[in-house]
Amino acid sequence: MEHIDRIRDLQILAERERAAGVRIALVPTMGALHAGHLALVEEGRRRADRVWVSIFVNPTQFNDARDLDAYPRTLETDLAACREAGVDAVFAPNASEMYPAGHDTSVDVAELTRPLCGRSRPGHFRGVTTVVAKLLLAAKPHVAVFGEKDYQQLAAIRRMVRDLNFDVEIAGAPIVRESDGVALSSRNANLDPEARRQAVVLVRALEAAERALAAGERDAARLLHRVEAEIEKAPLARIDYAELRDPESLAPSPAHLEGPALLALAVFMQPSRPDGVTVRLIDNRVLQAQRSLEDVSP
Ligand code: PAJ
Repeated sequence: MEHIDRIRDLQILAERERAAGVRIALVPTMGALHAGHLALVEEGRRRADRVWVSIFVNPTQFNDARDLDAYPRTLETDLAACREAGVDAVFAPNASEMYPAGHDTSVDVAELTRPLCGRSRPGHFRGVTTVVAKLLLAAKPHVAVFGEKDYQQLAAIRRMVRDLNFDVEIAGAPIVRESDGVALSSRNANLDPEARRQAVVLVRALEAAERALAAGERDAARLLHRVEAEIEKAPLARIDYAELRDPESLAPSPAHLEGPALLALAVFMQPSRPDGVTVRLIDNRVLQAQRSLEDVSP
C-alpha cells in the first residue's frame, strides 16, 4: 500500500494509472475508520481497479474549535485497517499541504446547503465542498464514493460536480449500522456509555416514522410529532432538527406527504458525566409514502 502525503505525488500517480487505463476509486474520509468507511472501500473496489482512501481532518469544515479538537485522530490504526482492507494507496496530507498560507478560494453550493446541517453549522458545507474539490483534483479518480449517512453532504457534492463539470462519477453507499441500529460514526467514540446506549433513539425515531407511514399517516406535522416524541424518550438527547424534505431538492415536504420524503435528524447527545462532551449525531432515511387508498380518487 502506498502512503502519500504530497498533492503533487498523488497527481503523478493518478496520471500514471490513468495513462495505463487503470480505473481509480477515491474514498474521502477524516479517519477514525470504522466499518461504514470500509463499506465505501468495498463499493470502490466493485467500481474500479484501484481504491484510494484519503485521510484528512479538514479544519475548514469545523465551525466549532472544540469539535475539531475532540475529533478522534487514529492514523496508525487507520493505515493498518486500510492495508487489511486491500486499499492501494492512502493520501494523508497535513493541513499546510492542503491549505498553504494565503489559501483564498472556496467552493460554495449555495441553496442546497442552506437548510438542515447548513443551518446549524454555518460554513460547514463550504469547507466540505472545498476540500472535496481539492481532493478530486489531487487524486483525479474516475469514481468517488460517499455514504448516505451524510445525506446533505452527498447531495451537495453531486451538485458541485454537476455544476462545475468535474469529470468524476459520484457513488452513494447505504448507511452501515451497529447491531442495535445506531449508525456508525467516528463521533460515537466520544459518547460515554450511557449516552451511547440512548443514541439508539435516532434510529428508533426513523423506524417509528416508517411504521406510522405504513399505517397510513400522511400528515407531515403529526409524523414529525411522533419522531420527536420518540427522541424525547432519551433524557440525554436534545433535538437539533427533525425535518421532512424532498430527497432531491431538499425543499420542505408538503404538509400532506406524497411520494418519497427524506426524514433527516440531528440530535445532541449530552454526556451523562460532568467530564464528558456533547456529541452531535445525524441519521436519515428516505421514507416512501405510497399513495394510500383515500388518496386515489374513484
Ligand atoms: P467522514 O465523517 O470520515 O466520513 C467519510 C465518509 O464515510 C463519508 O462519505 C460518510 O458519509 C461515510 N460514512 C460515515 N459513516 C458512515 C456509515 N455509518 N455508513 C456509511 N457511510 C458512512 O464525511 C466526511 O468524513 C468529510 O466530510 C469528508 C467528505 C471526508 C470531507 O472532509
